[in-house]
Amino acid sequence: MDGQLSIFETKPRKDITPKAVNVASIPQRSPFRYPGGKTWLIPVVRKWLRQCKEPKKLIEPFAGGGIVSLTAVFEKLVDQALMIELDKEIAAVWEVIINGNHSWLAEQIYSFDLTPEHANRILQKEEKTIEEQAFSTILKNRIFHGGIITKGSGLIKNGENGKGIKSRWYPKTLHDRILAIGYVKKKINFETGDAFEKIKKAKHDFGTYFFIDPPYTIAGKRLYTHFEIDHDALFSLTAQLEGKFMLTYDDTEEIRNLVDKYGMDFRTIPMKTTHHIQKNEIIISDNFGWWE
Ligand SMILES: C[S@@+](CC[C@H](N)C(=O)[O-])C[C@H]1O[C@@H](n2cnc3c(N)ncnc32)[C@H](O)[C@@H]1O
Repeated sequence: MDGQLSIFETKPRKDITPKAVNVASIPQRSPFRYPGGKTWLIPVVRKWLRQCKEPKKLIEPFAGGGIVSLTAVFEKLVDQALMIELDKEIAAVWEVIINGNHSWLAEQIYSFDLTPEHANRILQKEEKTIEEQAFSTILKNRIFHGGIITKGSGLIKNGENGKGIKSRWYPKTLHDRILAIGYVKKKINFETGDAFEKIKKAKHDFGTYFFIDPPYTIAGKRLYTHFEIDHDALFSLTAQLEGKFMLTYDDTEEIRNLVDKYGMDFRTIPMKTTHHIQKNEIIISDNFGWWE
């Protein structure tokens, strides 16, 4: 940029350097391996939800692996959680676990004899019931590279320790996680649908906490089937919420400009990606009284 500093570079940063989070110490409650999953942010989410002792509801409009809703309900940080997801393949898993027969899915995973032939038979079936779709999604998420289930992703070939497609297939663990969710699912609602619609509907819900983790693509890296959303519109909608919110993004110039445009407050957190790349995540919220 011809030696000039952009606004982005001159703006003071509000950094915190939290104690390094040992992700292994955070209970893994989701049946998904989720690219960009927020397990590492759980200690911050706990603080955010503990700021007020009143009964509260959580809405996670871009649920993905749903780690925030699951943790919040398991740890009694909220009384009720609502998860929303648009992707049909991911949504099928939550429809079956939360709204359907979760034990069926748990058993199916536990008893499945994973071979490339058996896996292909499941994945290639065209007309699937919602249960078959749920099972197929879990399978893909475990045996495709990096857990990525978009079109064009491929089967793991050699996997960890040359174990091939079985390298990420932990049937007993998945079975147990799904049964555990079954015990608390009365406190969780799941809806297949569009985050924007649901946020709009709940705009005036004063006692609601919104954990908003939208898809954000950098350098064209596509992790999700639904990856194109209107970020400006999401900021605009978030700024109108009467409840509390936490909005998370990669820390980029585009996002900082939106934070400025809507007069919001933020903090940044350094984190390491699964590929051990150090980057900053930006956390935008309506008040940071709980942070200090
Ligand atoms: C960054 S991921 C969420 C990850 C999640 N926080 C976790 O830790 O597992 C974003 C999710 O939003 C979903 N999504 C994209 N557009 C959506 C929309 N308009 N409405 C609802 N969900 C959407 C994607 O399919 C993806 O699962």
